[in-house]
Amino acid sequence: MAGLVLLALALGAGALPFEQRGFWDFALDEGPGGRRLAAAMADSGGGGGDDSGDGDEASGFFPTSGAPDGDGDAEPPPYSGLCPFGCHCHLRVVQCSDLGLTEVPKDIPPDTTLLDLQNNRITELRPHDFRGLRHLYALVLVNNGLRRVHAGALAPLTRLEKLYLSHNRLAAIPAPLPPGLLELRVHDNRIRAVPRRAFRGLRHVNCIEMGGNPLDNSGFEPGAFAGLKLNYLRISEARLTSVPKDLPETLRELHLDHNRIQTIERDDLKRYGQLARLGLGHNEIREVAEGGLSPLGSLRELRLEHNRLRRVPPGLPGLRLLTVVYLHGNNISRVGAQDFCAPPGAKRAHYQGLSLFGNPVAPGAVPPAAFRCLADRLALHFGNYK
Ligand SMILES: *[C@@H]1O[C@H](CO)[C@@H](O)[C@H](O)[C@H]1NC(C)=O
Repeated sequence: MAGLVLLALALGAGALPFEQRGFWDFALDEGPGGRRLAAAMADSGGGGGDDSGDGDEASGFFPTSGAPDGDGDAEPPPYSGLCPFGCHCHLRVVQCSDLGLTEVPKDIPPDTTLLDLQNNRITELRPHDFRGLRHLYALVLVNNGLRRVHAGALAPLTRLEKLYLSHNRLAAIPAPLPPGLLELRVHDNRIRAVPRRAFRGLRHVNCIEMGGNPLDNSGFEPGAFAGLKLNYLRISEARLTSVPKDLPETLRELHLDHNRIQTIERDDLKRYGQLARLGLGHNEIREVAEGGLSPLGSLRELRLEHNRLRRVPPGLPGLRLLTVVYLHGNNISRVGAQDFCAPPGAKRAHYQGLSLFGNPVAPGAVPPAAFRCLADRLALHFGNYK
């Protein structure tokens, strides 16, 4: 009976049957907000195809009576037409990406709400670069070779909510950050240390993406995250050897994949009872301690793929909301009848997705009852046993 079920499962093992989250197309960063911003930019006509409306509007800005006033060598009056040269301005969105700019352009309209400077060569943000931009709520500086942000460069941006600095060469998180910030992305920089007061005063920030930096556990000064009410934190592709213990308790999503974490100790996740998603894939985890997962009463999705686990982590049946578990690419050779499902009668959600392929599990070694709490059999991605 078990053999038949597993055979049927193996036939359907070509693709993960449950929905994968796509990458955010904006800068290959995953997370909330990105999609919305990209959509907002698309809506605002950033494609540049239809310029007829702009043309009419812009003609009004050209000086029509710009005759030099008698003085033979006088410069013509500067064009004050509210859009930096080469940029595309529409509905208070200023698009200056991919222009080879080496500095922040002047003449940015003071009512600009979104400024896109990605894919340029702006290596430095100087004290007056953003002067007067009191309405800016999103600033995109992704992929610029940015090395230096002068103290005070961001100070005029009193309404800034989204700051995207990924794919640059920053060695430190800029300070001070605008106090109204909601979302900070500094993925793929050269940040080694996060000092105690790096995020000081950021009372509203809910999302920080800081993966792809050479950060190890000692790089976080104790209290670096104190007082933050983060929902989302990503420190993937770094050098962590254990789960940082003093991240905000408010986290709903924590991504620590592609690090060097070796075990999950009993107390490592104690603070993170609000987590709905936890990403620990592509680490070196050999063991999850007994009780290590039990604080995660809100967890819906657990990713532990591509680690070195030899058994199913203990405590899964006790996580009542858990519906997706990735365990593929480990070293699990046995599955017990109680590893995934609570005893009959105990209340718990049904799994929508469970991946176990790429483990040395012998089909005869799986008791028929092991997967009785699956939503349906397509939720199980097994395969690969020989
Ligand atoms: C997998 O587990 C077996 C014991 O079950 C062990 O001998 C082997 O070294 C492990 N392989 C890896 C790659 O950790």
